[in-house]
Amino acid sequence: FFSDHDDLWLFGYGSLIWKADFAYLERQPAYITGWARRFWQASHDHRGTLEAPGRVATLIPAPGAVCHGMAYRITPDVLAPLDVREKNGYLREKVPLTFIDETGRANGQSEGLIYLASEDNPAFLGDAPLDVIARQIANAHGPSGSNREYLVNLAQALRDLGAEDAHIFELEKQLV
Ligand code: BEZ
Repeated sequence: FFSDHDDLWLFGYGSLIWKADFAYLERQPAYITGWARRFWQASHDHRGTLEAPGRVATLIPAPGAVCHGMAYRITPDVLAPLDVREKNGYLREKVPLTFIDETGRANGQSEGLIYLASEDNPAFLGDAPLDVIARQIANAHGPSGSNREYLVNLAQALRDLGAEDAHIFELEKQLV
């Protein structure tokens, strides 16, 4: 990946939006198109346990959809620990990124890298009724904290970005 560059843009759409525990050169709100954020990936090791898995965000192909997040310009060495941390079924993919300025307007494009968990990984759960997903989240806790906190932090981070995401905001409403 990106062997002819000494930096690249990593697009965060989950916990990376509010928590980047790696060194980055700069960061910029951004969006990608053709992908939708969904709580369809199980978490046995971060936001849940084997007995009570949590659910965390992944991206599914969705023609016409827009997914907002945070892009980080990093050096490639930053990816090694991410690859280890996110080994639970996540693949890398290259996508076009659109940056957003302080007024919310599109402000340039670049190639970006995403990690996503596709349906062919063993921890992929897929769709379920929103109230069922919300209850699973409300009942899961793992070494990284509660699954509820992950969802609430994600929803708050998206509000801070001025971003729309019906799936996330509806799930947050249904948290009991
Ligand atoms: C994210 O927060 O965007 C993310 C990071 C690594 C794997 C999956 C999602």
